[in-house]
Amino acid sequence: MLNVDRITARYGSLTALDAVSLETAAGARIGVFGHNGAGKTTLLRCIVGVHAPAAGSVSFDGRPVLAGHVPENVRRGLAFVPQGHNVFPTLSVAQNLRIAGLHFDLAFMAEVLRLFPVLHERRAQRAGSMSGGEQQMLALGMALMTQPKWLLLDEPSTGLAPVIVRDVMRQLRRVNESFGTGLVIVEQNVPATLKVVERAVILKSAAIVFDGPAARLAAEPDLWEWF
Ligand SMILES: Nc1ncnc2c1ncn2[C@@H]1O[C@H](COP(=O)(O)OP(=O)(O)OP(=O)(O)O)[C@@H](O)[C@H]1O
Ligand SMILES: [Mg+2]
Repeated sequence: MLNVDRITARYGSLTALDAVSLETAAGARIGVFGHNGAGKTTLLRCIVGVHAPAAGSVSFDGRPVLAGHVPENVRRGLAFVPQGHNVFPTLSVAQNLRIAGLHFDLAFMAEVLRLFPVLHERRAQRAGSMSGGEQQMLALGMALMTQPKWLLLDEPSTGLAPVIVRDVMRQLRRVNESFGTGLVIVEQNVPATLKVVERAVILKSAAIVFDGPAARLAAEPDLWEWF
């Protein structure tokens, strides 16, 4: 279980999150939406311990997640895929996966390649020469090499054509179903994400203004008033 308990996050005098709480069950699929600057990235950064909240706490499997202890938090099962394609462009696909899994079980690469046939086909290709969608798949594959219990993704659809966005979302669902990995997906592409998640959270100006079933948000005609 991953729990966020009334965290407040600041950058200097700016409050990016104001007493935000989120209780989750293992293996859940959650979409986090909201306008630019709402605090979405900050929420992910606090969960993985990249940013230290000014107040409140994050806990995972009953123990606190400590800010500044990112490698330990990753070992405990939290994987963060920041925005942009975080691959080593001059290395091959297989080398990228190997580096990501260095302190973990490298044999797991076979599972990752099975899940992403495109990475298997291109395992010898230089990562930087792959398309944006393929690089996003690689970034996902790299995160999976740590066999996370939770995958936290910051706008995984950025810069991808609609048909590729559907592919990425479908793969995320398969990861969740194959490994029971919980998903927290921060996205601007609300309709595409609602097809994958079961729960939706909307942040507005540092606070949660909606937290409920994805289907309810999908059916909500005034969806956009929150953005
Ligand atoms: N390193 C930083 N230093 C100062 N202010 C920051 C920093 N990072 C974020 N902020 C501010 O904190 C607020 C929340 O930012 P955050 O990046 O969490 O928003 P977001 O919801 O992810 O926005 P976007 O949709 O544009 O990615 C914004 O007002 C932003 O300007
Ligand atoms: Mg952001």
